[in-house]
Amino acid sequence: MARTFFVGGNFKMNGSKELITKLVGDLKAAKLDSSVEVVIAVPAPYIDLASSIAKGSQVQVAAENCYVKNSGAFTGEISPEMIKDNGSNWVVLGHSERRHIFGEKDALIAEKAKFAIENGLKVIYCIGELKEEREANKTMEVNTVQIEALAKVIKPEDWKNVVIAYEPVWAIGTGLTATPQDAQDVHKELRVVLTKLVNADVAEKTQILYGGSVSGATCVELGAQPDIDGFLVGGASLKPEFVNIINTPQ
Ligand code: G3H
Repeated sequence: MARTFFVGGNFKMNGSKELITKLVGDLKAAKLDSSVEVVIAVPAPYIDLASSIAKGSQVQVAAENCYVKNSGAFTGEISPEMIKDNGSNWVVLGHSERRHIFGEKDALIAEKAKFAIENGLKVIYCIGELKEEREANKTMEVNTVQIEALAKVIKPEDWKNVVIAYEPVWAIGTGLTATPQDAQDVHKELRVVLTKLVNADVAEKTQILYGGSVSGATCVELGAQPDIDGFLVGGASLKPEFVNIINTPQ
């Protein structure tokens, strides 16, 4: 089954009203391959602005995090209802910066994903191993545990609302991209993991993105790998080359 190619842009904690207006406006005006699913994750204060500008185009907007409640005394958090109220239907969860800077653990990330899905959002669920874990040959062990946390709490039918982003932490923002073969090997193994933890249908249909220093120069070879269904792009999503990445030939 052919999976739809998916390119996510993660703006992280970057932007201003002026910059978001320009970036989203430029994307909307660009000639994008219409077969590609495009989702940009923007800081919470700009979800409404980005969604308003992107409206009517193929560009969708995501939040970069959310909590496991829709309202209440949770200072600083945002909820799935708030995200939807601002025109977005997506959220990025479990990004390595949430895991390693803010100490989010698998169980909380999985609960967030479950709650987001139950409340009508689609989830870009990030996983990935640290450099020392890769060097200790623990890549699949680590990524399996991260996926297992989610598989334990959502129903098999919920996986249609999940896109996995495999982002080896050592490749994020470092200019060190995994080789296309290394990335392909992990993505292929992730489908085996999904088959075991969920079922073969979910393993076949779930889009698995690669993230970590993806650029206009590296996207073609990475995108040609059979189990790489697109990218989650950080730094380059703020640059004009993001359009080339979206238009990666398949
Ligand atoms: O979410 C995106 C990843 O953190 C990748 O970031 O493309 O700047 O390495 P990067």
